[in-house]
Amino acid sequence: MPGRDYSLTGPEAARAQERGLADATWFRPAIDPDRLRALSRRSNGRAAVDTLLWLGLLAGTGLWAWFARGSWWAVPAFAVYGVLYSGTADARWHEMGHGTAFRTRWLNDAVYHLACFMIIRGPTVWRWSHARHHSDTIIVGRDAEIGAPRPTTRRQIVVMFLGVPGTIQMIRRTVRHARGRLEPDVLSFVPLGETRRVVREAQVFVALWGAVLALAVFTRSVVPLLYVGLPSFYGIWLMVFFGLTQHAGLQEDVLDHRLNTRTVLMNPVFRFLYLNMNHHVEHHLFPTVPYHALPALHREVADQLAPPLPNTWAAYRELLAATARQAVDPRWEIPHRGVPAVPAADRAAIDTGTRLWRQAPGGAGERGGPGLDLGPADTLAPGELRRVDAGNGTFVVARVGPSEYRVANGLCPHGRAHLADGVLMGCEVECPKHNGRFDLRTGQATRRPAREPVTVHPSAIVGGRLRITDWP
Ligand code: FES
Repeated sequence: MPGRDYSLTGPEAARAQERGLADATWFRPAIDPDRLRALSRRSNGRAAVDTLLWLGLLAGTGLWAWFARGSWWAVPAFAVYGVLYSGTADARWHEMGHGTAFRTRWLNDAVYHLACFMIIRGPTVWRWSHARHHSDTIIVGRDAEIGAPRPTTRRQIVVMFLGVPGTIQMIRRTVRHARGRLEPDVLSFVPLGETRRVVREAQVFVALWGAVLALAVFTRSVVPLLYVGLPSFYGIWLMVFFGLTQHAGLQEDVLDHRLNTRTVLMNPVFRFLYLNMNHHVEHHLFPTVPYHALPALHREVADQLAPPLPNTWAAYRELLAATARQAVDPRWEIPHRGVPAVPAADRAAIDTGTRLWRQAPGGAGERGGPGLDLGPADTLAPGELRRVDAGNGTFVVARVGPSEYRVANGLCPHGRAHLADGVLMGCEVECPKHNGRFDLRTGQATRRPAREPVTVHPSAIVGGRLRITDWP
């Protein structure tokens, strides 16, 4: 039976739109907003330790390989170096791309660009591709990151582990981009204003590869290429090993991450190499939570999720059995993964981290007078966000200081997520869906994929109640 068209510009793309699967609303479990805020807290310390350990191991194995060159010890040394260089860079670009690992933004960006180079991913292309992946996870015709399109045979899985075709494809794509040629799929998710950046980044990658190649020719040695370039072939298997556990064999075209994403319990070494992305369901549900807090997040919401796979072997048993059946019948789905039933009627009422003032006594809109009443100010603690529905509008209210409040339109201009479900960092709010950020003093978008500003409103406290002062 033929498979579906997984391109982003073919008939499946139109079909996904027609079926309401594009940019749709997804299931999110109930979680206490205070707990979610605590889990979403960023820390430079933890990310610095993990990143320095990773870079230290990379440097250590690189030195080992250097001193072992010419002997058989160079084989295991380069094997470990290559895995650390390429296989583990996947989790690093990913986490840094969400901007959640470090609290300091430039540290996320620096490691993001380094890891993107190591794993041959154009930084801008993958930033936008990954935003799409979070909007439309495993929606055929929308998601550019479906790792195991159906049918995926055992042979194709073995080829993925060998890494050669996938890496050659990424090199070709980079060279094409460096020449200014962007594929229709890429243009379907990268905004036009960002295409020049895509080309420039690809040109930098090609220039760096050219420099390493020139060094190899000049020294008449393959060793420089064993450090930069070839690890993307011989070390990539670890990325495939972890990556396939995320979604392979699970349901397509559903709006519930519990049905199309796996959480797999892994040992501490795997969790370090993979930056806890084995908690993949939790990551998709709450992308604002940094990798180090995902195990704690799992404990918070586990009773609303499918039981996690007990180990990597169990995940492979499930995914290999499913892909084998789908190789014969691409429409076959794993029927039930033990996902707890949530009555449809309850889904809309589930608390996703938002607190509506309207529902509280003395809530918004209950008082008259000039402007728009948003409710009692002192029920919002410093550092808290709150959604307020009043006067036919939806607002996000942030208490950014002991007596300083900021008010903005509540829906993210990028994908219409409720900003009150996000994270407040100083005067910036981070969107819960794709980690875009806005300065609540000016409304300016300060982090992609958010680009359009959000409207901010002047406010004042009158008689202990917060009011938008310029409301008509
Ligand atoms: S919905 Fe995408 S950044 Fe807000």
